[in-house]
Amino acid sequence: MPPVLPLRLGVNVDHVATLRNARAIDKPDPVRAALLAIEAGADGITAHLREDRRHIRDDDMARLKAAISKPLNFEMAVTDEMVAIALKTKPHAVCLVPERRQEITTEGGLDVLGQHNALVPVIARFKDAGVRVSLFISADPAQIEAAARAGAPVIEIHVGAWCEAVAAGEEARAEAEWRRIVAGATLAKSAGLEVHAGHGLDYETAEKIASLPEIVELNIGHFMMGEAVFVGLAQTVRDMRAAMDRGRAALERTP
Ligand code: PXP
Repeated sequence: MPPVLPLRLGVNVDHVATLRNARAIDKPDPVRAALLAIEAGADGITAHLREDRRHIRDDDMARLKAAISKPLNFEMAVTDEMVAIALKTKPHAVCLVPERRQEITTEGGLDVLGQHNALVPVIARFKDAGVRVSLFISADPAQIEAAARAGAPVIEIHVGAWCEAVAAGEEARAEAEWRRIVAGATLAKSAGLEVHAGHGLDYETAEKIASLPEIVELNIGHFMMGEAVFVGLAQTVRDMRAAMDRGRAALERTP
């Protein structure tokens, strides 16, 4: 078996900003959360500057870029405004996501097949600027192949439907979604793509998905910020790291 690559933990700090924005003051600060998460073992920080600025704001992104010592992953919709801000911010990576104003969170994956012509020049601009581009897509073979054709080096698989089914105890649906993720990760790796996963992950699902050797990064936010309310953010990062390490270790023992 080839050596198993380490699994990185990207901590999404959007919901620290959600809490801050509930009041017209500057606390709690997502930058403070990012620094603490890194100190506790996060490998990177993710933040989504949404078109409606419902959580992260422009100056949060700039402050995150300036303050953190680990990679910043800038989640964004494919709009001229966001492309300009991201190119100015120069994060380590961008993750291109679909965005609809009315949605509670990013509900589905990007339609790379349908948006090929719009995505190709955007991916090329980021590549020229030295910014790693990831496309947030569902584990659909047609979308995965389209991502490779569009020239993206990385995909992030939207695992929200699987996490929802696991949390609801819907075993048959969870099993079907899991099989889609496994097949999608295998196909993406064989197409030369780096594979990440995110959306809706908790300790249980992060541990399980860590057993897929194709996946090298998880981006996790909402669950961790919720846990942090009870046990603190540093402890939550350590507990998530331990869950991911358990999943990876189980894989390493598999013949
Ligand atoms: N990855 C992407 C691309 C996302 O859009 C989100 C949600 O902002 C996440 C990961 C994190 O999802 P969650 O907050 O459910 O952990």
